[in-house]
Amino acid sequence: MRIAQVSDFHYTRLTWNPFRLMSKRFLGHFNWLLLRKKHFFEEQVEPLPKLFEELGVDYVLMGGDFSTTALTEEFERAKEFVDQIKQPWIAVPGNHDRYTRRSCKGLHFYRYFSHQRKEIQDPIEFFTLKDHRIEAHKIGKGWWTIALDTAIATNPYSSQGYFSEKLEGYLEEMLHLIPKNESIILMNHFPFFQNDVARHNLIRGEALQRILEKNPRIRLYLHGHTHRHTVADLQISNLPIVLDSGSCAQGRKGAWNLIDIHDGGCTVTTYRWDHRWTKTRVEAFQWKR
Ligand SMILES: [Fe+2]
Ligand SMILES: [Fe+2]
Repeated sequence: MRIAQVSDFHYTRLTWNPFRLMSKRFLGHFNWLLLRKKHFFEEQVEPLPKLFEELGVDYVLMGGDFSTTALTEEFERAKEFVDQIKQPWIAVPGNHDRYTRRSCKGLHFYRYFSHQRKEIQDPIEFFTLKDHRIEAHKIGKGWWTIALDTAIATNPYSSQGYFSEKLEGYLEEMLHLIPKNESIILMNHFPFFQNDVARHNLIRGEALQRILEKNPRIRLYLHGHTHRHTVADLQISNLPIVLDSGSCAQGRKGAWNLIDIHDGGCTVTTYRWDHRWTKTRVEAFQWKR
């Protein structure tokens, strides 16, 4: 099974409508124009759907921050991109996709990116990202992906996420419903580690870490948010293999991961942007937990 992990697109559109700027969005525009505009390029994201096809990708997992200030026009642009992906995909929102209180409360992200189930055939299908902030998909024989939405609207100087007690309960319940001998990929916009400055962290990340420690069937933890590409095998510390795909739009720092899963382990291939997407590193891991 071959998976593409891609995140932090940061499609950006500006508005000068004063009513739409009366929020954290004003600061977001300022931040974009002064700091980010020269480092992020949506053009380099465009070749990805075709490349995924050429590489024979089976599933595309997208880690959030599709937008910059959760503007409708940004989501529309991001949706145009996602519509070009031929494979089944799962997408979670990032903090930028819930940038304003209004976009958060109105669940604007899910107007564009959600899987509507016609009928519930399995108790696990009761949970949806839109309604419960959690959703599970069987992605292959013996393999599941659980997607978490931990994005919240925050004050202007914070980009924190929140793994709530309620979501913790749902995750425990979902783990109970997935057959014990099957493996899981957990995806979330935020890392669970409390490494960054507090205002960028996942609140209650330590509770999520405890679940990862208790459940060795969670073999991979996929996240974005930091814009720092990272591949870390933490199995020796009783944690999953942690993959941060970095931001796919961030110029020469732009990256994404191709993950090949097989019975005994996985191979992670890093693609980086250098005028075109280039394979730069291949690492093989064995399941050890
Ligand atoms: Fe981001
Ligand atoms: Fe983020």
